[in-house]
Amino acid sequence: MTANQMASRQLFVTTALPYANGKFHIGHIMEYIQADIWVRFQRMQGNEVNFVGADDTHGAPIMIAAEKAGKTPQQFVADIAAGRKQYLDGFHISFDNWHSTDAPENHELARQIYKDLRDLPAEKGGSLIETKTIEQFFDPEKNMFLPDRYIKGECPKCHTKDQYGDNCENCGAVYAPTDLINPFSTLSGARPELKNSEHFFFKLSDPRCVKYLEDWTQGVDENGKPRLQPEVANKVKEWFSVRTNPDGTTSEGLGDWDISRDAPYFGIEIPDAPGKYFYVWLDAPVGYLASLKNWFDKGGPKNRKINPDTRSFDEYMAAADTEQYHFIGKDIVTFHTLFWPAMLHFSGRKAPTNVFVHGFLTVNNGEKMSKSRGTGLDPLKYLSLGMNPEWLRYYLAAKLSARNEDIDFNADDFMARVNSDLIGKFVNIASRAAGFLAKKFDNKLGVISEDGQPVINLISSQKDNMQLLYENRDFGRAMRETMLMADVVNAYVDANKPWELTKKEGMEARLHDVCTVCIEAFRLLTIYLKPVLPQLAAGVEQFLKTTPFTIQDAAAQLGAGHVIGDYVHLMQRVDVKQLDALFEVPNMPEASALTAQAAIKSVAKNTPKAVDDARSEIITIDDFAKIDLRIAKIVNCEAVEGSTKLLRLTLDVGEVDDAGQPKTRNVFSGIASSYAPVDLIGKHTVMVANLAPRKMKFGMSEGMVLAASAADEKAQPGIYVLEPMAGALPGMRVK
Ligand code: MSP
Ligand code: ZN
Repeated sequence: MTANQMASRQLFVTTALPYANGKFHIGHIMEYIQADIWVRFQRMQGNEVNFVGADDTHGAPIMIAAEKAGKTPQQFVADIAAGRKQYLDGFHISFDNWHSTDAPENHELARQIYKDLRDLPAEKGGSLIETKTIEQFFDPEKNMFLPDRYIKGECPKCHTKDQYGDNCENCGAVYAPTDLINPFSTLSGARPELKNSEHFFFKLSDPRCVKYLEDWTQGVDENGKPRLQPEVANKVKEWFSVRTNPDGTTSEGLGDWDISRDAPYFGIEIPDAPGKYFYVWLDAPVGYLASLKNWFDKGGPKNRKINPDTRSFDEYMAAADTEQYHFIGKDIVTFHTLFWPAMLHFSGRKAPTNVFVHGFLTVNNGEKMSKSRGTGLDPLKYLSLGMNPEWLRYYLAAKLSARNEDIDFNADDFMARVNSDLIGKFVNIASRAAGFLAKKFDNKLGVISEDGQPVINLISSQKDNMQLLYENRDFGRAMRETMLMADVVNAYVDANKPWELTKKEGMEARLHDVCTVCIEAFRLLTIYLKPVLPQLAAGVEQFLKTTPFTIQDAAAQLGAGHVIGDYVHLMQRVDVKQLDALFEVPNMPEASALTAQAAIKSVAKNTPKAVDDARSEIITIDDFAKIDLRIAKIVNCEAVEGSTKLLRLTLDVGEVDDAGQPKTRNVFSGIASSYAPVDLIGKHTVMVANLAPRKMKFGMSEGMVLAASAADEKAQPGIYVLEPMAGALPGMRVK
């Protein structure tokens, strides 16, 4: 494509709309950073981008959370919305607009799309909406139909109590909520009743939909590129041949989609169907359009090059040259590759150009972040510690590829990549040259000799390649290749030794030459990094006294005679103390959080003073049975660097992994004051095996070992790890 053709691209870009029932967690921020890098790159090429987001406000969980918080759902989601800006600004996410799925635009658009699907004329194959009566659990106390996740009961297979309506956590059986023994509503505790209700369905099984979606998901986009990422297309392909029903059975092909819920429901009322609401996933993606419409209606898009006066929201959406892209996570692919394109297409609208699927972010090899619970790396804490948002942007860029694969935030890796690559290799290039230029040459650039020109040419010639890498969302490779270019510059500096040139007579011109190469190279590298590091790039533009960089600027140089500004330090290094603070667990003294002294204080040493008189409340045998106590063999034990209280235990509890290989657990225990690692290796003890894993500064703790201690630990120090009598084997249950 020529520069001119590129400038004509009009891109409508979104990220998934986050549920408005919690703050952003680091997984959300990752998605926004990924999309933002792509958007900024597109803008740098002169493309016109409308980049919007919104809160996903509807559905039963939000309605119930609002009720618990004593707020109306509207107030509840408004309070969440008010907290968004600090994250988005904080990480330099350049959304043009942020809106809400409860806004009037969305009510109107969702109802219109529905009507268009419902009223499809006979010559187009007729309506794609139908109603069916289904039997569903109803909570007589709450007066509402219960989503499966709010029903619990006894597993019909293994009789474990307190299991969810779809599958048993103990034996793994899959069933329908109606199969549960003694079902109860988790909202009221009441026994749910089966009741009939009329539901609305989108007929996805209709041959029209199946044909269209097979073509859409397996075909090429308007630019002639394969539409979905190969791994995503393959996954989607399976859904056309076989599907798993809620009761565990399988059926052929796409099933119809239940798009209605009964009142009370926080959502959008279905036209001509009082008391019936759209299921949240019907109106959620419509929120993309609602946010864009709101943006247009506010007069938002500025500097529009294409028909700037006539393009309304409707015209923009209908225009053949508007490309529409959705950045989403791997958990919501069905909605975006089946339901959403079908809704748009059959309601007479343009389907998305493409859907870009990313994997999940984990933190320090932890489990995947929960949807509602922020864990691991708190984005606001990151900012409040004064950590530079561009460190995170760079680190994530370096790890991201175009593939749908999970990535892990690792604290050590983060520090190494930022400090050695970003600062050590790239930022330092400027500081290596700027001092000499200021002192000796009045900040004026010199002439580059035949010696230095190849360095500049090499970097400059990478422009097309960098454009391709960014376009394809191959950010990791873009970062690696940029750092390789930085290596070339640094090797050039090391070979020419400006710090020696400055001391030698008659080497002035040579010094000027070398420093000029550094600055020109630094400028080019900054252009390539600008989508990732917008703030640093702005600093460099100021320092070099240039106009804002576009990608085309990589084809040119500042040139001899150009006067730059005084160098100001552009970026600090990551301090390990910041990372320690970031992952510190608040208000949890290490020792008491991780050993069970509190639980079994009264069985400590047999002196009256040691005994804690305050007995705990009486519990039933069922309460006790909830604690899965197991014999564990301490196969390894080591000190924890940076902690005086903790030991790291590797425990064999008789478990095997998916491949049948023995699997151990990692547990941190606050017993270092009483034991050296050698005291414990090879011994058996008792552990709580079903304790929720906890992320600690030093890694994940997957359970806890039992130990006794005196009531007054100061007066009577000593911690005593429990040891079973001879013969107990790893994995045996303690009961
Ligand atoms: N509300 C729906 C999306 C509706 S889109 C019309 C939803 N919300 S969510 O808050 O649960 O997730 C929002 C986005 O964050 C999704 O793309 C999801 O995949 C992504 N992520 C949630 N946890 C994540 C990680 N741990 N890592 C990366 N992305 C993650 O789903
Ligand atoms: Zn079971």
